[in-house]
Amino acid sequence: MENTGQKKIVLCLTGASGIAYGLKTAQRLLEAGARVCAVASDGAIEVAEIEDGQNLLESLEKIGVESIYTERDFRAPPASGSAKFDAVVVAPCSMNTLGKIANAIADNLIVRAAEVALKERRRLIVVPRETPYSTTHLRNMLSLSEAGAIVLPASPAFYFKPSCIGDLTDFIAARILSLLDIQQDFIREWGK
Ligand SMILES: Cc1cc2nc3c(=O)[nH]c(=O)nc-3n(C[C@H](O)[C@H](O)[C@H](O)COP(=O)(O)O)c2cc1C
Repeated sequence: MENTGQKKIVLCLTGASGIAYGLKTAQRLLEAGARVCAVASDGAIEVAEIEDGQNLLESLEKIGVESIYTERDFRAPPASGSAKFDAVVVAPCSMNTLGKIANAIADNLIVRAAEVALKERRRLIVVPRETPYSTTHLRNMLSLSEAGAIVLPASPAFYFKPSCIGDLTDFIAARILSLLDIQQDFIREWGK
């Protein structure tokens, strides 16, 4: 990716339920003019197939994501701090990936990209999805928060009267864009 002044975001999708959160985030980032580099884990590809009967890599391509990698593509740009991405978002984030990021077990491109964000002091947003949480999950989230990551649970609000799944995924995408300092107008700010 060339440096065009646009925000460059690594968006990682892992094998938690709610692949739609990641796809909606990709769509909204692109609509806002950001450049998106997506990485899908094997788990995410499997869950997308089970949840929506879709081929995740094809869905990302259809949305217009220009760079798409699998978790084994260790030679891809997000593996290195020298590639100047502004932020890494993991949405949805499985407890498996969350635990690996919290403990610096960089055995795939997603955990490596997250680790790069932490070591380079760039923004890292993880969107965990599990219920209930075990004490270990909560400890891992605390470790990540202490390391500088933002833990943004897949917990959409209901005060804005969502009428469909798309409204719920938009709520989470809006919170992510806002934390990336990217203007969004698809969810009204409270009080406006
Ligand atoms: C249909 C389905 C739904 C799943 N949902 C979740 C979930 O919500 N949260 C979670 O942490 N793991 C969930 N898992 C388990 C993960 O996919 C599994 O732990 C996998 O190893 C995660 O790998 P990854 O972190 O590399 O994507 C689910 C698995 C399947 C098949």
